[in-house]
Amino acid sequence: MSIQTEVARRRSFAIISHPDAGKTTLTEKLLLFSGAIQIAGTVRARKASRFATSDWMEIEKQRGISVASSVMQFVYRDCVINLLDTPGHQDFSEDTYRVLTAVDAALMVIDGANGIEPQTMRLLKICRARNIPIVTFVNKFDREVREPLDLLDELERELGMTPVPLTWPIGMGSRFRGVFDLRENRVRIFRAGEDRIGEESFVSPDDAAGMAALGPEWPQAEAEIELVQGASEPFDPQAFVSATQTPVYFGSAINNFGVREVLDAIVDFCPPPGAKHAEQREVEPTEDAFTGVVFKVQANMDPQHRDRVAFVRVCSGHFERGMPIVNARTKRTLRPHNVVTFLSQRRDIVDEAWPGDIIGIPNHGTLRLGDTLTQGENLQFTGLPWFAPEAFRSIEVVDPMKAKQLRAALDQLGDEGAIQVFRFDDGQMLLGAVGVLQFEVVAHRLAAEYGVAARIGPSTYIAARWVSCDDEAELERFISYNEARIARDTVDAPAYLAKMLVELEVAKERWPKIRFSAFREFG
Ligand code: G4P
Repeated sequence: MSIQTEVARRRSFAIISHPDAGKTTLTEKLLLFSGAIQIAGTVRARKASRFATSDWMEIEKQRGISVASSVMQFVYRDCVINLLDTPGHQDFSEDTYRVLTAVDAALMVIDGANGIEPQTMRLLKICRARNIPIVTFVNKFDREVREPLDLLDELERELGMTPVPLTWPIGMGSRFRGVFDLRENRVRIFRAGEDRIGEESFVSPDDAAGMAALGPEWPQAEAEIELVQGASEPFDPQAFVSATQTPVYFGSAINNFGVREVLDAIVDFCPPPGAKHAEQREVEPTEDAFTGVVFKVQANMDPQHRDRVAFVRVCSGHFERGMPIVNARTKRTLRPHNVVTFLSQRRDIVDEAWPGDIIGIPNHGTLRLGDTLTQGENLQFTGLPWFAPEAFRSIEVVDPMKAKQLRAALDQLGDEGAIQVFRFDDGQMLLGAVGVLQFEVVAHRLAAEYGVAARIGPSTYIAARWVSCDDEAELERFISYNEARIARDTVDAPAYLAKMLVELEVAKERWPKIRFSAFREFG
């Protein structure tokens, strides 16, 4: 098939939510509807079995959070869909941000009882900043939830884009009758506990007896629909793609209800892969030469394969297993033979991949977060951000004989983006994180995966800013004048560390030519 055809049939999206809204459940149902899995419980089982196979994931279990994110690929209506999971907990929002650089759309799951929750808001801001189109799914209508008009109001207020309902719920909880499909002009009947797929039943508004059977919930829903249709703009697919409208669906993931509409929305409305920005030029997906970008690195995903997997989003061209590809940063050529995609627990070997697809390349540290892969062209994709840490810890090795191992382990964890590691000139190391849970994960992983006991203690630092300047000599002067406050991160980028915010202000005033950045983009 031609590259144009392959690009046109690709959809890559991330699923985002506040913890417990139903992200895992919906993911599983999306896979069920696509036929990628046959048995409900597979994804949930994966969520559970991870804890058994990997010790540090205990943390995840203890806290009920999802630390690692993963990738699933499936086919629906002849579209190849790449679904990227994101960690729900705010302390891992950096990871989520990186995942969002690898997708063309997002699916936001909202708990109908809670509406928009803090983490949803945070993720949403990221999507808004990147102009990512969002499909909204309001979940748990089989329970007593908030009034749909009230939910819609909140979406309107908080999203910064216009919510346009494409289905409307009829009743809720024990009186949940189904949803009215505003585009198809029919009611999809809800049956509680229904776990069968492909046996959906519908009622048309022309069928008076069928509609009467819905009880008093229907007239109420009908009045609401009238209100909503009168007040809101019609759905405009172009406005969705430019992230000014979000289509809203209601349902109950656990009951397989409302899931098909969401899948259809992804196929019908979500954009196929588009051009990607590199420092040198824009890269079109339909170009012949393969390019890709590493947006996530995860070490030791499976204790049976003690390796690191670099997650690469294919940006252009056609990838074939074993073909030589060049890491534009190091100019080294690799010939990945055992490239993998991920579906539930299985790692499937892939023979080929197209723009929008995510491939996993096992490696021993040659691939780093933000690396650009090409067939020889010197390119650096931009947009993968590092955020200035908001929390800091000192770190010391317990057994001095293991100092080298600690450094190597921290290098790996730093390359993965699990933590930020800063080194001062005198060899002292400092850990930085956006969320404090990252420290716990690192302490756990240092012991469990690398066999290094480390003391992670408090630190007096409170802020870090990457420093740069158009005038190299000025930057050198700044660095040597502030030597004790300058540390370098894993890619040797210098940062100014402050113990009080006022120090930072003073430094900014004294050195007007120096840029102090709260985030660093790759490249
Ligand atoms: P998350 O990944 O966003 O954290 O959420 P997850 O899917 O794990 O769902 C959180 C809880 O909400 C789960 O219950 C799940 O069964 C429930 N849930 C998901 N969708 C629906 C729905 O449509 N209706 C209702 N009533 N509940 C739903 P749990 O008790 O935490 O776990 P479990 O014992 O069911 O596994």
